Amino acid sequence: MGHRVGRVLITGEEIAGRIQELAGAVAHDYAEKDPVLVGVLKGAVVFLADLIRAADIPITLDFVELSSYGAGTGSSGLVEIISDLSGSIENRHVLIVEDIIDTGRTAHYLRRNLESRHPASLRLCALLNKAGRREIVVEIDYVGFTIPNEFVVGYGLDFMAHYRNLPYIAVLEPEPAGPEPGGSLALQDLE
Ligand code: PRP
Repeated sequence: MGHRVGRVLITGEEIAGRIQELAGAVAHDYAEKDPVLVGVLKGAVVFLADLIRAADIPITLDFVELSSYGAGTGSSGLVEIISDLSGSIENRHVLIVEDIIDTGRTAHYLRRNLESRHPASLRLCALLNKAGRREIVVEIDYVGFTIPNEFVVGYGLDFMAHYRNLPYIAVLEPEPAGPEPGGSLALQDLE
């Protein structure tokens, strides 16, 4: 069965408004700290790009790419680093930027991993918090939206590597039976 982009959960305008608030808090808290913002590839890039342009303070950027073993919409719980930071974070004020915290396993792993590199401080900022899916308690210092337990795409979040470029966050839903003239893209069409 194919899938399609369904109901819009958070509009682009709502995202933009919330990012202004988050960026204001980050700018206030890190004004004199020259933080390094660590974007978690790939999902966080859209959020990170908007967040840093709304935070009018000196910052630097770095990236890490992580992978959970297993396929589909679930998480097996095993996390590994595919691509590591380009520089040291020792004695730096580090803010991890994530698109979504789901089971919490990725954020838990990354927090512990980065903590072992002796940053001056370490916090986590996530656009979305799917709190109902949490398996490991993880402290999230800045949260954009808490969302229900639905599979969402857009604004950096993908399904089978697609939909990251949607300027809003929507629920992914099964393609209804029968032809749909002018309907949304079905993933089966991409394979
Ligand atoms: C997503 C998301 C988080 C993680 C959250 O990444 O960006 O990193 O899953 O899930 P968890 O709380 O259950 O660990 P994904 O592995 O889908 O890679 P992507 O960012 O490239 O889409």
